Amino acid sequence: ILEFFQTSESLKNVGGLQNLKSWVKMRKNAFTEEARRYGIPNPKGVLLVGIQGTGKSLSAKTIAHEWRLPLLRLDSGRLFGGIVGESESRVRQMIQLTEAIAPCVLWIDEIDKAFGNISSGMDGDSGTSRRVFGSLITWMQEKTVPVFIVATANNVRILPAELLRKGRFDEIFFLNLPNEIERQDIFKVHLNRLRPSRVRQFDLGLLARQTKDFSGAEIEQVIIDGMHIGFGDRRDFTAEDIVKAIEETVPLAAVAKEQIEGLKQWAASAGARSASLDTVLVEKLKRYTQQQGLGHLEVD
Ligand SMILES: Nc1ncnc2c1ncn2[C@@H]1O[C@H](COP(=O)(O)OP(=O)(O)OP(=O)(O)O)[C@@H](O)[C@H]1O
Ligand SMILES: [Mg+2]
Repeated sequence: ILEFFQTSESLKNVGGLQNLKSWVKMRKNAFTEEARRYGIPNPKGVLLVGIQGTGKSLSAKTIAHEWRLPLLRLDSGRLFGGIVGESESRVRQMIQLTEAIAPCVLWIDEIDKAFGNISSGMDGDSGTSRRVFGSLITWMQEKTVPVFIVATANNVRILPAELLRKGRFDEIFFLNLPNEIERQDIFKVHLNRLRPSRVRQFDLGLLARQTKDFSGAEIEQVIIDGMHIGFGDRRDFTAEDIVKAIEETVPLAAVAKEQIEGLKQWAASAGARSASLDTVLVEKLKRYTQQQGLGHLEVD
């Protein structure tokens, strides 16, 4: 259920998301003996929420790399075993293991998929899920060993509210779709990796303008599609090839506007911070929070 995850993803591979990156950088030495003597408590964890392809999983990987800690990925699907009582023992096992390896980062990807069924009561097995979830959040609250939890979630509406109570996470970050400057940055990250000597030949400004409402993952995909065009013609690919690929792509956000807006409102009500420095978004989150009243956590 736990997997050692080797990663070489550094913060340099993440475009945009300046707020989140500064937050991570500032805590670089937070798990050292020196920090303990200074009186700083162990950071507990972050929750990263956002729509598909905005870099949640990527960021989770970079945190461990940046802090030079081992990364353990929890397969939450496998937490639930067939035999009665098995799931409970697996959580205990998981907790023992991470504590033995600590200091480390425990990555719980797509936590909404594992525990989203709890509050709705739709799940026939919800007794077990609830107990497993209960032990997990109790541990998150009380653990004194340096295990930093990075959880990611997409469909926050189904997340049980207890998960978000104070003390479980140090911070909740909302990852929005990248704005134009951030899109330029993401193009740069990927083109730098693929064609380090030719980056300057690509009109990054043009590419960023043409990709309104594209996620980071969709930006990566149009670059790949553009590469196929160039490769098919037996020449190197250009910005024009990427533009062609862009024209043939309908970004998910174009058909999921409401979902994204709902996610923003939720993020504001949960007191989430914007992962991006985007001032328009930061203001918007603030406004939502004021409208709803601070500390309000219940959704729907
Ligand atoms: N901000 C970014 N900078 C650079 N690359 C990005 C960024 N966001 C996404 N990508 C690219 O898209 C890929 C997929 O992103 P990632 O898996 O982190 O998305 P996610 O938010 O976890 O999505 P999902 O909700 O579908 O799990 C990354 O591996 C990376 O190549
Ligand atoms: Mg992911």
